[in-house]
Amino acid sequence: MAFPPSFLDELRGRLSLATVVGRQVRLTKKGREHSGLCPFHNEKSPSFTVNEDKGFYHCFGCGAHGDVIAFEMQTHHLSFPEAVERLAGEAGLQVPVQTVEERDRARHASTLYDVLEAACQFYEKELRGQAGRGALDYLRRRGLDDDTIARFRLGFAPDSRTALKHALKGQALPEPLAVEAGLLKTPDDGREPFDLFRGRVLFPITDRRGRVIAFGGRTLGDHLPKYLNSPDTPLFHKGSILYGLAQAREPAAKVGTVLVCEGYMDVIALHRAGFAHAVAPLGTALTEQQIELLWRMAPEPIICLDGDAAGQRAAAKAAERALPLLKPGLSLRFATVPAPEDPDSLIRNQGAAAMQAVLEGAVPLSELLWRLALAGHPVDTPERRAALEHDLMEQAGRIADRAVQDQYRRYFRSRLWEALRPVKPPYRPASGKMSGNAFGKGGNAFGKGGGRRHSIDRGADGRLPGVGPPPIPTPAWQAQERLLILTVLAHPGLLEEVAERLGSQHFSDSDLDKLRQEVLKHLDGWGSLDSEGVQRHLRSCGFSQILDCLLEASAHDQLAYFKPDASVEAVRDFWEHVFTLYSQKELTADLHQAEQQAAAALSEETFGYLNALWSSKTEGTDT
Ligand code: UTP
Ligand code: MN
Repeated sequence: MAFPPSFLDELRGRLSLATVVGRQVRLTKKGREHSGLCPFHNEKSPSFTVNEDKGFYHCFGCGAHGDVIAFEMQTHHLSFPEAVERLAGEAGLQVPVQTVEERDRARHASTLYDVLEAACQFYEKELRGQAGRGALDYLRRRGLDDDTIARFRLGFAPDSRTALKHALKGQALPEPLAVEAGLLKTPDDGREPFDLFRGRVLFPITDRRGRVIAFGGRTLGDHLPKYLNSPDTPLFHKGSILYGLAQAREPAAKVGTVLVCEGYMDVIALHRAGFAHAVAPLGTALTEQQIELLWRMAPEPIICLDGDAAGQRAAAKAAERALPLLKPGLSLRFATVPAPEDPDSLIRNQGAAAMQAVLEGAVPLSELLWRLALAGHPVDTPERRAALEHDLMEQAGRIADRAVQDQYRRYFRSRLWEALRPVKPPYRPASGKMSGNAFGKGGNAFGKGGGRRHSIDRGADGRLPGVGPPPIPTPAWQAQERLLILTVLAHPGLLEEVAERLGSQHFSDSDLDKLRQEVLKHLDGWGSLDSEGVQRHLRSCGFSQILDCLLEASAHDQLAYFKPDASVEAVRDFWEHVFTLYSQKELTADLHQAEQQAAAALSEETFGYLNALWSSKTEGTDT
């Protein structure tokens, strides 16, 4: 049985050759190649290499050579269809069931490539000829030199319904093939097929190997659509192709990343400006397949979209698509070209350095999601904050990979926790003069909605450096410290979820703090232990005495939360509640200090800050 070439290409594209080979052969990575002992002949030193970029293995010893399908056939003694079926299962692809028609189509698929290649050459020639004068001028006006035009094989479709049709006929290429390739269009009324592209500059779209599979055509004037693309064909599926992929593969491997921009001209302009690792989807939002394709090129592709509303919507959409697919180490980054520019116009107007600056400003997916969530939420009431938290946790919940999902939950929790605390103004001794100048512009962390909050420059961690006096411990905090740690000891399963926050606080009781640190060390190892196992372990590490004190002090509490059968939700809520109270210890100290400062010299700034503290404290405690 024959499979459609596009299916096989997709199959090869989805699988990592090194992973498949790696199951049979121990591979070591050297630069961009992997090598190991050849599975096809007996050898002592490795002459077998795998090139992941090209998708081929090769043995310098015995000459064995092939792609992922050939490897599967040879090592498992399978027929071609058997190997394909097996690999398709692994790649999560449905093997297409072929009709007789489809089989015919598959048989002549190579001739579809032929007709597309012939068309490409025809269009290239036309661009250099009499009819293409205007088009060539247009491209030159847009800053393209001959070299670039040749490298991207740009062409021109004359404004005629039959120019291509006749040219193909002249080369004895059958008309139905040209129709199937999307080059000619059959009118609904049954008249003769005619040229699809007329009077347009043509951008050939290739597969990853550089074979022409479709075209995009730009109008020279203001005809609509601005870009006309080939329809989907047996070789071309818009959603699984990226423009510029063939040209970008090598450069992307070299620099270790890949750029995704919006359009044809952006890819070419980026390429010319030295960013040869650029690709673009074809006028649609990034699909899952395209994201997977990008990850085969680099672990953290940079999505570089226009700053206009449409570009930002596309960024959000790409983030949403990528979220369920994230894997440890695989993510996206996002850079925004300032409106109204796109990469092409930015480079033309402000140079490659401006583009470089845009790329350096790329933020991780996690940061983008945080910003998007904040932009949609005022956070000035407990309910609104809860809604924000709910949204963020829901986003994290969409990530299929557990490890990444957990990290996202922690990340969002710690961002929330950091962001929702009021910020301390720099400490000044009570006797000093209050000069307002430290309260300059500084970015408000919450564009809108955070009206009560002060705009004070924060340190890199979002907090001002702790220049004030250390907070004075109170009995209440110490009780809270005990409860926080006891709850985790009683329910070690909770640890993973709360570790970030437990790690962010130093306990005022130094023995208890040592215990806290010890507990955090075992974040990964304790998942399967029960409370007794954990306590046994702590005793064996010299924590018996603290543990005894702790248990004794809590004995009279008789808290239901410490019982093994307490519900997970109840325990979690309890811990959260105590932590909220406890994390206000700094707030209480800040408040105390601010009141002193205000008493010494009341200014508008100190008063505002005091107000922010007061209201946070009320909000925090009455939930
Ligand atoms: P833009 O409208 O942003 O155009 O479309 P552009 O890339 O800046 O084009 P120039 O600079 O005016 O030549 C972005 C991309 O969306 C797709 C194309 O892939 C285009 O490059 N598109 C746009 C279409 O497929 N059809 C259209 O009608 C318009
Ligand atoms: Mn443009």
